[in-house]
Amino acid sequence: MVYESRHPLVKHKLTLMRNSATKPKKFRELIREISLLLCYEATTDLTTQPLAVDTPMGRAEGVEIKHKVGLVPVLRAGLGMVEGIWEMMPGAEVWHIGLYRDERTLKPVSYYNKLPTMPTVQVCLVLDPMLATGGSAVATVDILKKWGAERIKFVGILAAPEGIARLQGAHPDVDIHVAHVDERLNDIGYIVPGLGDAGDRQFGTG
Ligand code: PRP
Ligand code: URA
Repeated sequence: MVYESRHPLVKHKLTLMRNSATKPKKFRELIREISLLLCYEATTDLTTQPLAVDTPMGRAEGVEIKHKVGLVPVLRAGLGMVEGIWEMMPGAEVWHIGLYRDERTLKPVSYYNKLPTMPTVQVCLVLDPMLATGGSAVATVDILKKWGAERIKFVGILAAPEGIARLQGAHPDVDIHVAHVDERLNDIGYIVPGLGDAGDRQFGTG
């Protein structure tokens, strides 16, 4: 399933992120905030289990999140999505995956993966702001499934229809949560209208 956010705060922040006048410091603030909102929407179906606690006034029946969550930022642009989400889920583990897209072939090239042999989390949230051709997302999910991850969701900011089709074709069980599905890819594989290069805009490069 593809979930495109309808939340006014998400739409407002996305507009600021798209604006080419937005400087890296502001862009980083926005990516942190919008990721938190998107993660809130992407986690509505997390399983809980009962947990009773003592309040100062007596016993209260509550719940706790049942499964261990792994945040999987795709380097580099996914890094900016971690902090806000992690504050909200401090018990999550963070596993980085290093991939870059070869500018000529548009194919993902893997350069960093320190996942241990056995999976340590049950739910993985892949964090990457841009789902363009979908090559990087498919490669990341391939890695996580090979690792043994049971449940995987993709959380991004913008997607192109081409990337959605590719990820859904390869991994139909992976839900996709984004702020917006844009029109198309241009002839160099960038999302249009998009927001430009999500890595460069965060880190002030390019
Ligand atoms: C961007 C983005 C995705 C990828 C999307 O990363 O963050 O990982 O491109 O493109 P795709 O869907 O066509 O694979 P990039 O390769 O620019 O690396 P960077 O984050 O290190 O700048
Ligand atoms: N990567 C980006 O950072 N932006 C795009 O539009 C496509 C891939």
